[in-house]
Amino acid sequence: MIRVGILGPTGYAGLELIRILLRHPNARIVYLGARREERPRIDDIWPILKNRISLPCSLIGQDPMPEMDVAFLALPHTLAMSHVPEMLARGAKVVDISADYRLKDPAAFKKWYKVDHTDAANLPRAVYGLCELFRKEIAGAELIANPGCYPTAVTLALAPLLKKGLAAPGRIILDAKSGVSGAGREPKAELHFPEANESITAYKVGVHQHTGEILQTAERLAGRDVDALFVPHLIPMDRGILATCYIPLAKALTTDEIKKVYGDFYKDDFFVRVRMNDTIPTTKQVFDTNFCDIAVRGVGETAVVVACIDNLIKGAAGQAVQNMNIMLGLDESAGLV
Ligand SMILES: NC(=O)c1ccc[n+]([C@@H]2O[C@H](COP(=O)([O-])OP(=O)(O)OC[C@H]3O[C@@H](n4cnc5c(N)ncnc54)[C@H](OP(=O)(O)O)[C@@H]3O)[C@@H](O)[C@H]2O)c1
Repeated sequence: MIRVGILGPTGYAGLELIRILLRHPNARIVYLGARREERPRIDDIWPILKNRISLPCSLIGQDPMPEMDVAFLALPHTLAMSHVPEMLARGAKVVDISADYRLKDPAAFKKWYKVDHTDAANLPRAVYGLCELFRKEIAGAELIANPGCYPTAVTLALAPLLKKGLAAPGRIILDAKSGVSGAGREPKAELHFPEANESITAYKVGVHQHTGEILQTAERLAGRDVDALFVPHLIPMDRGILATCYIPLAKALTTDEIKKVYGDFYKDDFFVRVRMNDTIPTTKQVFDTNFCDIAVRGVGETAVVVACIDNLIKGAAGQAVQNMNIMLGLDESAGLV
């Protein structure tokens, strides 16, 4: 059995990691690291786990850690990078769910996250874990930068057109909506029920921190500069992301032609489901799954691509386990279906 540890098990991504790993045929959770001095049992924090796992949370930095084969970090960004060097030094493979290792350039990290990177030495060895696009690199990695939730949906939506040179150099519009769990469990006024319920808003228009990550991968796929305007929205549901992407085309393509491009591109990817009929995916249809559902339309010289994921699964814990499976040569879908 693969010995697995989780730092940050008391957050939303941490809970989903536990739920997935409990049903994983090859993994056993041996360590839960938290900052809670009272060292609570995890099923007292998350009653949904009663009768399934009752491991006490260890105090990070004080209690001993057992040997681990894989460590998942589900900590806030800018904190994860202070723990990754130690986990690597202990010989664990690391999957970091935070943003700390996603941007290759420390200057870009400073631009988008407003702090200096404190572990730039490990940035070059971090592999960007968007499984469907970078599987080969992931297989040989020791440190995975698990992609952000919005970037996962948006990049899977853009990849076929960018990679095949079918997108024109003009501005791509990325309009994305997320449920409130995307912001984590820590209370914030704008996430308070009377503020968020029955209401919808755009936020961080053109300046959201995921913009740098989206552009980094888009440019890598296209092999040129990419211009994209990313506008996220908060919508009153627990979880789920729907991204609608407006991509200028080098020449007009019909819906059927674009469907063929996407169907071929993702034909071997179990977790990407391209709609070949006339339906458009909804967030409910990917709820609590590791799937990304995609529909495409050709509207003159614009491709409209709609992608849906569950932000906590394909956008966080599910993709993290998918990365572990690839790194260790396991069935890629183990624990995830
Ligand atoms: N939510 C999503 O949809 C999503 C998607 C992709 C990536 N992510 C990323 O995944 C990470 C976790 O997100 P989340 O949504 O699970 O956040 P969350 O619900 O706020 O959980 C954060 C976790 O980090 C712990 N933590 C916070 N400060 C700490 C400290 N100083 N020392 C030790 N532990 C500390 C929290 O412990 P306490 O319970 O004690 O506060 C909790 O376990 C973040 O980097 C986030 O950006 C989240």
